[in-house]
Amino acid sequence: MSGMMLTLLLCLSVGTISVVHCGNPYLFFTWNVTYGTLSPLGVPQQVILINGQFPGPNINSTTNNNIVLNVFNNLDEPFLVTWNGIQQRKNSWQDGTLGTMCPIPPGTNYTYQFQVKDQIGSYMYYPTTAMHKAGGAFGGLRVNSRLLIPVPYADPEDDYTVLIGDWYTKSHTQLKKLLDSGRSMARPEGVLINGKSSKGDGKDEPLFVMKPGKTYKYRICNVGLKNSLNFRIQGHSMTLVEMEGSHTVQNTYDSLDVHLGQCFSVLVTADKDPKDYYMVASTRFTKSVLTGKGIIRYENGKGPAAPELPKAPVGWAWSLNQFRSFRWNLTASAARPNPQGSYHYGKINITRTIKLVNSASKVDGKLRYAINGISHVDAETPLKLADYYKVDDKVFKFDTMKDPPPATAADKITMVPNVVNITMKDFVEIIFENPEKSLQTWHLDGYSFFSVASEPGTWTPEKRSNYNLLDAVSRYTVQVFPKSWAAILLTFDNAGMWNVRSEQLERRYLGQQFYVGVENIARSLRNEYNMPDNALVCGIVKDMPKPTPYSM
Ligand SMILES: *[C@@H]1O[C@H](CO)[C@@H](O)[C@H](O)[C@H]1NC(C)=O
Ligand SMILES: *[C@@H]1O[C@H](CO)[C@@H](O)[C@H](O)[C@H]1NC(C)=O
Ligand SMILES: *[C@@H]1O[C@H](CO)[C@@H](O)[C@H](O)[C@H]1NC(C)=O
Ligand SMILES: *[C@@H]1O[C@H](CO)[C@@H](O)[C@H](O)[C@H]1NC(C)=O
Ligand SMILES: *[C@@H]1O[C@H](CO)[C@@H](O)[C@H](O)[C@H]1NC(C)=O
Ligand SMILES: *[C@@H]1O[C@H](CO)[C@@H](O)[C@H](O)[C@H]1NC(C)=O
Repeated sequence: MSGMMLTLLLCLSVGTISVVHCGNPYLFFTWNVTYGTLSPLGVPQQVILINGQFPGPNINSTTNNNIVLNVFNNLDEPFLVTWNGIQQRKNSWQDGTLGTMCPIPPGTNYTYQFQVKDQIGSYMYYPTTAMHKAGGAFGGLRVNSRLLIPVPYADPEDDYTVLIGDWYTKSHTQLKKLLDSGRSMARPEGVLINGKSSKGDGKDEPLFVMKPGKTYKYRICNVGLKNSLNFRIQGHSMTLVEMEGSHTVQNTYDSLDVHLGQCFSVLVTADKDPKDYYMVASTRFTKSVLTGKGIIRYENGKGPAAPELPKAPVGWAWSLNQFRSFRWNLTASAARPNPQGSYHYGKINITRTIKLVNSASKVDGKLRYAINGISHVDAETPLKLADYYKVDDKVFKFDTMKDPPPATAADKITMVPNVVNITMKDFVEIIFENPEKSLQTWHLDGYSFFSVASEPGTWTPEKRSNYNLLDAVSRYTVQVFPKSWAAILLTFDNAGMWNVRSEQLERRYLGQQFYVGVENIARSLRNEYNMPDNALVCGIVKDMPKPTPYSM
């Protein structure tokens, strides 16, 4: 009864924003974020729990559902989570980064409200404040297709979320102290699958159970902090069906390289001897390989998993080839935020090219990471609020970062809030050029993009003739191999302030991120929702009167 009342009230309060909201179901969640103690690698350590769970609970939603999620922050520090890959159309207010929202103060709560509009697929959420991701509070977020929309494969027997990630036994506070003192967080100590690491002593409980003969969907996401991981299942191949919100051409793989922040959905059929099998996630491109494993059990199966684990591929050329095998299924129907822009992306004229070059160096003897010579620092007032209240000139400057990047030495670094002004509806080509010896992974909030090329060496305009302008996968993260570049294409049609970040926590924390400001110059509700009534305010806008709301 009270639940229904709430639905009606919310419907009224958002009804002025968009009528669409009202027709779609609301899902309500309450999260209690607390510290706890667990021993995922055998050593007791502080972790961050959501409703007592590590990893946090799965969010199970369907295209266009409205999510109302009340977060009670019972940590001793301000806290926010972001919804990696959820586009937040017109709604960067709920994006959960320090450039768009004031963090939730300890001992208080904030209710996120957003719609998973026109999306399907596999996503994750994770904290963006401090080094909290190194403590937990991450989890899976799935958006199911609506019943009326055909999915290009038979309904699986069940749908399992597999969160793989490297892990440190140091707490998030210890790691933060290391980085704040100018040092690196060094190497992780292990790899976890859904927060656990099987010991292989015959006493491990299975993570998943399969009925013989049946086909299951596994959604594999890399929620880790530093390393790409190779994922594989003993004796079983995997049919790739979806990647970061797009149905793919259904190729079969023995293993998949899953870079930080990425999600893949695969189908696995239980057609082998009924017994236990290991699923394995091991670090890629590292001198010493860390391996995490977990058990998949056949129902009524007999016998333990064989101790020999399937081998991982070696070197990154293999990974590049695998990336090139990923293709978008052009004939599969699915919800898409921007159908006009998406089917014929190869035919749209590029209005702007932005080249981004990453670097690592020291400022006053302390480690910092930068993009085009700028190392981002968060402002006390979220950039989005500064812009909305028209006090941006007191908080940040647009376009300190130059494109093309300056030719000066990579070690000349400027530390400021890093914000790029992008004109609404521009069709932009972004080149990520990686001169470093390590692999980079980038994520863009608010959008999906076409990941059209990735090659060794440096980018030149002539390389455009190598782009996949037909069936590149529309996705939300891109990896850039060592001493290589990657190109993405997208239409900036979602007004707001959007975070572009390294998916490596250490790099992001030490400045390798920026924001794109896609300005709602007309201050029109057609482009962007108003600041929510319950929005937290902080910094210089804390006691300022609210600006005149946007109008039609
Ligand atoms: C959250 O969990 C803590 C610790 O278990 C408990 O003390 C507190 O009452 C809980 N708060 C809510 C809102 O459930
Ligand atoms: C997720 O939601 C779908 C659609 O409402 C439902 O069919 C399915 O059983 C749910 N799955 C879980 C694990 O709750
Ligand atoms: C905090 O939770 C209460 C319900 O317990 C809710 O009424 C209130 O709106 C929430 N605060 C925010 C800022 O969302
Ligand atoms: C693409 O989707 C279509 C339509 O659902 C399906 O029939 C086809 O098998 C898929 N193609 C591939 C190569 O996966
Ligand atoms: C794209 O650019 C080409 C060459 O400059 C021009 O001929 C064409 O009209 C442009 N197309 C659009 C849709 O603007
Ligand atoms: C951002 O770009 C638009 C379009 O070029 C321009 O009108 C606007 O003045 C720019 N805003 C700032 C703050 O530079």
